[in-house]
Amino acid sequence: RRLLGYAAATTGVAASAAAGAMGGHMISQRVRPQPTDDSEMASQRVEAFFGPHQAGIATDPQAHALLLAFDLNEEVDLERFMALMRIISDDAARLTQGQPALADNDPTLAKNPAGLTVTFGFGPMLFTKLGLATQLPEGPVRIPGFDIDRLDVQWTDGDLIVQLCADDELALIHAQRMMVKDLRAFMSVRWAQRGFRPLPTVLSDTPRNVMGQLDGTSNPRPGTDEFSQTVWADAAPDVPEWFTGGTTMVVRRIRVELDEWDRLDEVGKELALGRKMDSGAPLGGTAEHDEPDFAARKEGGLPVIPTNAHIRRAHSDDGARIFRRSYNFDAGPTAGGTPEAGLLFVSFQARLRQFVAIQERLAEADMLNSYTTPVGSSVFFVPPGCEYGGWVGQTLLD
Ligand code: HEM
Repeated sequence: RRLLGYAAATTGVAASAAAGAMGGHMISQRVRPQPTDDSEMASQRVEAFFGPHQAGIATDPQAHALLLAFDLNEEVDLERFMALMRIISDDAARLTQGQPALADNDPTLAKNPAGLTVTFGFGPMLFTKLGLATQLPEGPVRIPGFDIDRLDVQWTDGDLIVQLCADDELALIHAQRMMVKDLRAFMSVRWAQRGFRPLPTVLSDTPRNVMGQLDGTSNPRPGTDEFSQTVWADAAPDVPEWFTGGTTMVVRRIRVELDEWDRLDEVGKELALGRKMDSGAPLGGTAEHDEPDFAARKEGGLPVIPTNAHIRRAHSDDGARIFRRSYNFDAGPTAGGTPEAGLLFVSFQARLRQFVAIQERLAEADMLNSYTTPVGSSVFFVPPGCEYGGWVGQTLLD
């Protein structure tokens, strides 16, 4: 009720964005705000909130991300949680369009959304806590433990994820403040992780990670059939009805042992990955987007791309791909001067087993394992998007 009442009252930018999204366009479409008397808004990037899928997945990745995981307080029941989802959906619908949230103490901070997207997902334990375990998708719903893992509870699991992405950190921090304010009486913050992606360069649109690699070259491209098949849960016997149009989100905090990595020379780094450090070309190729030739052999018979190279182990021939939308993190050096940086690995896939199959091959024998340590791991079931006046999670909870 609260949402419907206020959503109908929104004007200008939000209403036009909603109308655009309802026309069946992709949610990642950039919606130009209507000219307003506020010239500050006129040049801002605004991402649609309403649509068949939630934003922040197919959306062209923004420069900054803030991932918040919450746990449900014991006394909170289904009805209360439903009310919470209505409220935070309303916050998201407004803030993404440059409108203040209800009871926003600093409405001016909402004026520059900077491409803000807000994406919600539910952790497997939430279903049990709310008596909805039968609504979990079939197949694995937890990420199994791997020998390479050194998981810290501080970065693991969670009942609700709120993924905030924007090109401006202040927009993120403001959205975080509004979300936390609305949730904190009923949920506790389990973890908060921040990430960044560098801007595209003249060399490549693909961003570099903290190891210096071009990261994201071979990834299903939003807008293609391959992307849809990889990411969105379609109607199928093993997909609960509420989850159609949703996706499964994996978040892994992977520390990079940069001091170890520094001991390798360029050739060693390239053999570990299977791609050139400067151009990102697969070994044996010349340009970043050349197809890797996994059958190619050197004189003497050794494979050009080593058998334990990351891209060979991660490559899927069987169609069980994933869509990676990761960010870098840097938490500042330790007192002893050791870097505390790495990859805030985020992937979206229709079914968790697509991720698990790849992670199993990597855990078994990936040369990058000597330089990386997973320290956090979570999975969330991301409901489909909602139409104007609706709220995220409605298909499951209402
Ligand atoms: C490819 C880095 C962890 C799955 C790549 C590439 C880089 C990279 C640089 C090549 C460029 C590209 O196609 O994007 C890293 C780093 C990791 C990491 C630094 C950890 C710190 C993972 C994990 C998974 C994964 C945990 C999934 C379980 C993939 C896939 C590809 C890939 C599917 C594309 C393979 C292909 O060519 O088909 N990664 N990665 N990566 N990575 Fe990772």
